[in-house]
Amino acid sequence: MTADKILYNLNEIFVPNDPGHPLRGDEMNKATVLKNGYIAIADGKILKVGEGSVPEELKSDKTKMVDLKGKTAAPGLIDAHTHLVYGGSREHEFSKKLNGVTYLEILEQGGGILSTQRATREASFEDLYNKTEKLLDHMMVHGVTTVEAKSGYGLNWETEKRQMEVVKKLDKDLPIDLVSTFMAAHAIPTDLKDNPDKFVDQVIEMMPKVVEENLAEFCDVFCEKGVFTADQSRRILKAAQEAGLKTRIHADEIESIGGSSVAAELKTTSAEHLMVITDEDIKKLAEAGVIGNLLPGTTFSLMADTFAPARKMLDAGMAITLTTDCNPGSCPTANLQFIMQLGCLAMKLTPIEVYNAVTINAAYSVARADKIGSFDEGKDADITIFDAPNLDYTLYFFATNLCSQVYKKGELVVENRQRLK
Ligand code: NIG
Ligand code: FE
Repeated sequence: MTADKILYNLNEIFVPNDPGHPLRGDEMNKATVLKNGYIAIADGKILKVGEGSVPEELKSDKTKMVDLKGKTAAPGLIDAHTHLVYGGSREHEFSKKLNGVTYLEILEQGGGILSTQRATREASFEDLYNKTEKLLDHMMVHGVTTVEAKSGYGLNWETEKRQMEVVKKLDKDLPIDLVSTFMAAHAIPTDLKDNPDKFVDQVIEMMPKVVEENLAEFCDVFCEKGVFTADQSRRILKAAQEAGLKTRIHADEIESIGGSSVAAELKTTSAEHLMVITDEDIKKLAEAGVIGNLLPGTTFSLMADTFAPARKMLDAGMAITLTTDCNPGSCPTANLQFIMQLGCLAMKLTPIEVYNAVTINAAYSVARADKIGSFDEGKDADITIFDAPNLDYTLYFFATNLCSQVYKKGELVVENRQRLK
């Protein structure tokens, strides 16, 4: 078979292994890095990657040869945890935050997620669509080709549904894939503040509709002090699994109240945040094969003391990913490259571990590893190109967008924005 398109002259190509399960522990520090490589694409899929000159048998008269001299390539980056669809924004809480008022205090005062909930309920489908499209543009120009997106700013069926419909339409309309997560269990609405179990019932009642209308693949819950208890989270996630949804859980973000144990017990696909996880719970997640979705940008933006103990997790044999958490409160950024750099600079992960985290492991975390996350033949030709001589450079030169091209299913969908004069 010959290629439609061949990207060649690439200084380095990151080629993860896909052993059929998320990479755990030491496996995360292994990958192949090709030098002076090429990527051959046919019908929007990966045909072959290799080193040195491009074999003649891959070429035909119609093959488009793309010279990417001196650049670096990786499988399209995957952001496995975001809260992308929301009304308003929260910069009005920024000074409070800088003056030491904590995230949970702001939420308790009716701000935080509840403030975004009010703005999201007021926003029309078009408002939400246009706003989310802008965020997705930022993500794409930073090299992201697939993104998970949660609802959770409606806290009632009407608005949760609108959020998920926005995700569905953007997935269809834009050259980036969206994986939808139902997260009505994101906060307790003010009118049910004194009766949270009633809200848990309401969330559970929404689940069959989510599945029937094909609005989401995953269900998530914010297990946190003052939000949902471990028992309530367990009830919600069990019901979600019975309804046919895959599950994940925000656990051990600010206070450790048992969310990770629930994740291990229910074998959720992933557990999110884990900033204050206990050693015992790390063991449980490793044994249960739950992926840790780590969000160092949230520690950074909350100005918190601790990053998730990534190294301990790897030592215990866990699989981890790195994600933005892109949301209007705890982590307002759409730049996954910066999160990857924090993976090195704040969590002391190696560049190989970081790239495995945002490619093959993130693909498992969003249940798409059969299609994306590596350069195995037949997977989608989702490719992120960096204007950088090697992978280390892309992590060492930080907080600057180094992404120069993005290919989605073999099509060029991002070209570097150029200075006009
Ligand atoms: O992952 N922790 C709960 N959810 C988000 C924050 C959402 C928000 O503050 O709007 C998070 O940090
Ligand atoms: Fe989150």
